[in-house]
Amino acid sequence: MENRQVVSGMRPTGKTHLGHIHGILENWRDLQDEYDCFYFAADWHALTSEYKQTSIIKESLTEMFVDWLSAGLDHQKSTLFVQSWIKEHAELHLLFSMITPLGWLERNPTYKEQQEELGDKEVGTYGFLGYPVLQAADILMYKGNYVPVGRDQVPHLEITREIARRFNYLYREIFPLPEALLAEVPNLVGIDGRKMSNSYDNAIYISDSEEILAAKIGQMITDPQRAYRKDPGDPDVCSVFSFHRIYTEPDVVREIDKECRRAGIGCSDCKKILIKRVKEYLAPIQEKRNYYLTHLGEVEEIIREGTKKARGVAQNTMVEVREVIGI
Ligand code: TRP
Repeated sequence: MENRQVVSGMRPTGKTHLGHIHGILENWRDLQDEYDCFYFAADWHALTSEYKQTSIIKESLTEMFVDWLSAGLDHQKSTLFVQSWIKEHAELHLLFSMITPLGWLERNPTYKEQQEELGDKEVGTYGFLGYPVLQAADILMYKGNYVPVGRDQVPHLEITREIARRFNYLYREIFPLPEALLAEVPNLVGIDGRKMSNSYDNAIYISDSEEILAAKIGQMITDPQRAYRKDPGDPDVCSVFSFHRIYTEPDVVREIDKECRRAGIGCSDCKKILIKRVKEYLAPIQEKRNYYLTHLGEVEEIIREGTKKARGVAQNTMVEVREVIGI
C-alpha cells in the first residue's frame, strides 16, 4: 500500500525560536519515519505580508533550513524544498481560485485576526485574501493526508478540505481531505507572557548564547502576586514554570511546584535551574547549527535536491489536474 503523505510549510520571516521547535519542528521530525514527508519554505506566503520589505525573506531562507536540519529533520527521510521554486504551486493556486467562493475566504477567522495583528502592514490585498487558496495548493499538490501545524492554522486547513471536496465533486475525485495534526505542546509564551512570536520581540531564539538566554529568562514574568521572596507563589500562573514543564525532569518539576507554593524557593533560583536546562536542551541543536552554518554549500545542495524531487511529484499532479478539468 502506498505510504501516506505529510505536508507542511513555514514562512521564512525571521529567526527560529523555541515556539517553532516545540510547536512544529519536533512534530515534523517525529513523523519522518512513518510517512512520506514534504516540508517547505513558504516564501510566497511570506510575501503576502512582507511585500514591501522583501529582504527578510531571502535573509531567513537558508538559515531556516539550517535550523530545520539542526532540529532533527533529515533530508534522507523527508523532502525539503522551496515553494517558489516550483511554479506548479502558482498554477494550482490559480485553478483553485476559480472554484473558491469569496465567502469562504472572507469568513476565515485567521484572516480577520491577522489583518488586525499586522495592522501597519496593509494586507488588504488580493494575495492576502487568497492566502488559504495557495496553502490548499501547497498541500493538495502532494496529496497530503496529514498537515502538522499550529492551532492557528486549523481554519486554513478547513478551507483546504472545502476546496478539495469541491474539486473532487466538480471534476473527479483525485484529492484526499487532509487533516491537521496538532502538537501536544501548548503555545509557548514569550518572555513578556504573550504568545512567543518574532513580531512581539519576546522570543528565545535557538541561536541565543548562554548570556542572552540568562538575560531573557531573567526578565521573564513570574507569578505577579509574588512580590517578595517570602510570599508563596502559584506555579500555575507562572511563565517560568510553564517552561520547566517542557525542559526539566518531572521529579524536579514536582519539587519546584511544591517549594514555590510554600516560598521555599525564590524566583531567581528557579530561573537559574531553567537557564541551565534550556542551555542543555539547546546544546546539541546549536552544535549542529554551527556545523551547517559553516557548510552552507551542503545545505544549499540539500534544498536543490529536495526541490527537484518535489517538482517531479508536482508535475505529475498537474498533469492529472489539467486532464480532469479538461484544459
Ligand atoms: N500558513 C502556514 C503558517 O503560517 C504556512 C504554510 C503555507 C503552510 N503553506 C502551508 C502550512 C501548507 C502547512 C501546509 O504557518
